[in-house]
Amino acid sequence: MTSEAPSATVHQGDCLSVLPTLVSGGARFDLIYVDPPYNAGGKRGARVEQGERVHGPTAYEDHWGGRDAFISMLRPRLAEMRAALSSVGSLWVHLDHRTVHETKVLLDEIFGPQSFQGEVIWVPGNGGRKRRGLSVTHQTILVYSKTRDFIYNIHDPELREPYAETSQRMHFTQTDPSGRRYRERTLGGKTYRYFLDEGRQRGSVWTDIPAMSANTPLRRETTGYPTQKPVALLERIIKAASKPESLVLDPMCGSGTTLFAALRLGRNCVGIDQSPLACQITTRRIREFSTAGREEVHSGEAP
Ligand SMILES: C[S@@+](CC[C@H](N)C(=O)[O-])C[C@H]1O[C@@H](n2cnc3c(N)ncnc32)[C@H](O)[C@@H]1O
Repeated sequence: MTSEAPSATVHQGDCLSVLPTLVSGGARFDLIYVDPPYNAGGKRGARVEQGERVHGPTAYEDHWGGRDAFISMLRPRLAEMRAALSSVGSLWVHLDHRTVHETKVLLDEIFGPQSFQGEVIWVPGNGGRKRRGLSVTHQTILVYSKTRDFIYNIHDPELREPYAETSQRMHFTQTDPSGRRYRERTLGGKTYRYFLDEGRQRGSVWTDIPAMSANTPLRRETTGYPTQKPVALLERIIKAASKPESLVLDPMCGSGTTLFAALRLGRNCVGIDQSPLACQITTRRIREFSTAGREEVHSGEAP
């Protein structure tokens, strides 16, 4: 990592027109995270404090006149995102049950189905339970890469989790000269050693990052912007799919969570949003980061 402070840039506008200008200017992104509107209908209102007053201006519209219109809106924008990826880049598309299935088909069309690298099922812990029928308690993040050589930092501690208690007791029975507990497994004639303190690779269902850290007014992280995502979620994605020298993009950045997380991790980043309120809040968060520094502006802590 360079010792220079990381930089962030915010563009107000439709990513469909802003992205080509960034690409023609030579920008290529190792990581693009996008959290588009979910075709939930209506408007999304913000809860914004101005002095002593709290008011609720419209942040953005989420009404597209049906699925086809929603997909038609996404198609050219996702194609521009693909064009903006570097050769080691990946695109993480955050959706919910309302649009994830048709967007998966669309992304297969744009990238080719072989470019689908998997999905994260995020369980934010706040889904309401229905009296009848199936409750929805997760969201999905689809991951596509331009090439097979995309960045994925499989050994980053953020992508590891402790082995199950029973496995710890039953399998990790050996200790090396430095005191580290391990187990060995022989697969296909080759013996592999697994250390207890490294943990196992994290699975694709993430249950340990609550939405509440971003959405309750009791938390410092809350900006009042609707559908704000937790910084911890974005930090995990950025640690997984970028390097310190990577350029990170969020082309529908809302309150700027991706930019805030990228700055905390020392990555240069770019945000785009067509909502003036989104750009205003994102700019304020960036400024808070620059003035208070990484340690002060921490995520998810009650004041
Ligand atoms: C779900 S919100 C993003 C929330 C964000 N992840 C956060 O943590 O605050 C979706 C955002 O997409 C923006 N948006 C929708 N269409 C857009 C477009 N064509 N270009 C740029 N931004 C767009 C909306 O203004 C809204 O801020």
